[in-house]
Amino acid sequence: MSKTDDVFQRRLQKHHDELKWLYMELYHNDSMFAELCTNLYQYYKERRQALKKRDEKREQDPDWFKRNDMLGMMLYIDNFAGNLQGVRQKLPYLSSCNVNCIHLMPFLDTPKGRSDGGYAVADFRKVRPDLGTMEELAGLADMCHKRDMNLCMDFVMNHTSEEHEWAVRARAGEGEYMSRYFFYDSYEIPGRYEQTVPQVFPTTAPGNFTYLPDIGHYVMTTFYPYQWDLNYANPRVFNEMMYNFLFFANQGMDIIRIDAVPYIWKELGTKCRNLPQVHTIVRMMRMIGEIVCPSVALLGEVVMEPEKVAPYFGTVEKPECHMLYNVTTMASTWNCVATKDVRLLQQQMEIVNRLPKQYTFLNYLRCHDDIGWGLDYGFLRKWGMEEVPHKRFLNDYFRGRVEGSVSRGELYNDDPVTRDARFCGTTASMCGVESAEFEGSKEKLDEAVRLDVMLHAYMLAQSGIPMLYSGDEIGQVNDYSYKENPDKAEDSRYIHRGRFRWELAEKRQDAASMQGRIFAALDKLETIRREEKVFGASSDVHVYYVHNDSVLCILREQEGERFFGIFNFSDGEQTAWMQEDGEYTDLLSGEKILLKDVRIAGHDFYWIKGRR
Ligand code: GLC
Repeated sequence: MSKTDDVFQRRLQKHHDELKWLYMELYHNDSMFAELCTNLYQYYKERRQALKKRDEKREQDPDWFKRNDMLGMMLYIDNFAGNLQGVRQKLPYLSSCNVNCIHLMPFLDTPKGRSDGGYAVADFRKVRPDLGTMEELAGLADMCHKRDMNLCMDFVMNHTSEEHEWAVRARAGEGEYMSRYFFYDSYEIPGRYEQTVPQVFPTTAPGNFTYLPDIGHYVMTTFYPYQWDLNYANPRVFNEMMYNFLFFANQGMDIIRIDAVPYIWKELGTKCRNLPQVHTIVRMMRMIGEIVCPSVALLGEVVMEPEKVAPYFGTVEKPECHMLYNVTTMASTWNCVATKDVRLLQQQMEIVNRLPKQYTFLNYLRCHDDIGWGLDYGFLRKWGMEEVPHKRFLNDYFRGRVEGSVSRGELYNDDPVTRDARFCGTTASMCGVESAEFEGSKEKLDEAVRLDVMLHAYMLAQSGIPMLYSGDEIGQVNDYSYKENPDKAEDSRYIHRGRFRWELAEKRQDAASMQGRIFAALDKLETIRREEKVFGASSDVHVYYVHNDSVLCILREQEGERFFGIFNFSDGEQTAWMQEDGEYTDLLSGEKILLKDVRIAGHDFYWIKGRR
């Protein structure tokens, strides 16, 4: 046995018993487990030397992804740079944005017009031809690694496209492939599922099943009708999907985003969300990664209420995901922008701050999806805010239909029954950049930029890893051109998935332009965040109460050093009522500042450092 085999054996030994136990619990299938183990070794052997080195390094430094220089950006390859080669050429631009983690939005082969933005994968081993090839992807990963950058991709594991080979063979009646999905020859069982399973896209894709008239069967389609849910109760599905995961790890991915993971296990009579078997599968995936490719981190996409999210970290002894989206905090942030009242955000941050420090959240203001108003309504009810009318208020507010609102955007999946609409728009449009530019008002544009920068400053001060949305660094506004494309017109999420406007990005060099102001402000904040150790993952993060419901204050403490981020969510001047002794410096201006009843202009903020 070679030395490298020793490495594999050591890692396998560490996890073998638990992995086998969990596998048998789900599948009771020795030969499939043996096949899995053989393949783990195969993928390990095929892993490039450079990646094995990365594995070794990160085994020694398991907190690599928590460092305060980590800054992500999510982008669509075609919108941003045409294709993979284009992204390669734009790496210097991303470095100039301080970004060292690039999340490439779905890029695998997908049928045009029936793709859900790439989330309907037709071939897990093939890049969409207009974007490039698998070799180019691996080449990009190498190049990123040389520049000390990380690459992240989506692993769409809940479903495949109806054009995936398995689906095509299932539709042709091959039993072996039908068993990889959920097929029913009558509506009886689908009907029973529909009684308990909620809907993801109630208006754009109602129901959880699709009837296939050509073969007289129903197939389960939780998302769009062309996204067929995989049946993870079939060990063949689990094994093959793990091979796909390892295949991507071997292309050089650093972070794998497991898409829609709460949905992967289905059980009649339940909501088919967050079932215990989902956690078994994620735990097995974590161990498989640690055996074959320990430098790869799992990012769970769990867009659920807070009590459902944290369990996806697993326990400290038996971890599942390395990182999770801080989704409730994101939605609560926008709620506070609309209400100018930060109490909900304070309470949400308290919940997050109480979790073990090992748990790392990915913070963001906007992403490619809509904002679902998943807020703590039990808490809001104390001030008379009921769920349905409050959601209506938020949607009206952000569409600019409420007195004083400067936001612009559109509804998404306005469910006629539950009136549970969600919202789409870019950060800049939600902050008023679009309406100010339309009106040609310099004053309103100043206010919009201030709010936009304040929200970024707040996001960068949270505990966890910040993830920017491409275009936000130059204040890119909504793009309405999707309405002219019949493949996209029905899905308002495309309003914030527009082409990156390089011609506007040019203006970032001009300090007086809107683009230049946002770009320079973010650059400064990101640089401070990277350089100051008070932003380190081990610092204590608290909500600090300043007795003003419009002002949020985050306190970070590390080895005697203290950082205060004070954010005014109202448009008028406010006072942060506080009395702190000691020496403090405004990190942005470099000037000394007294932490005694600090006055802050509307939508402005302070980043302050000092000692007691
Ligand atoms: C995830 C993606 C979303 C997609 C869905 C179905 O939630 O973020 O864009 O529609 O999965 O794959």
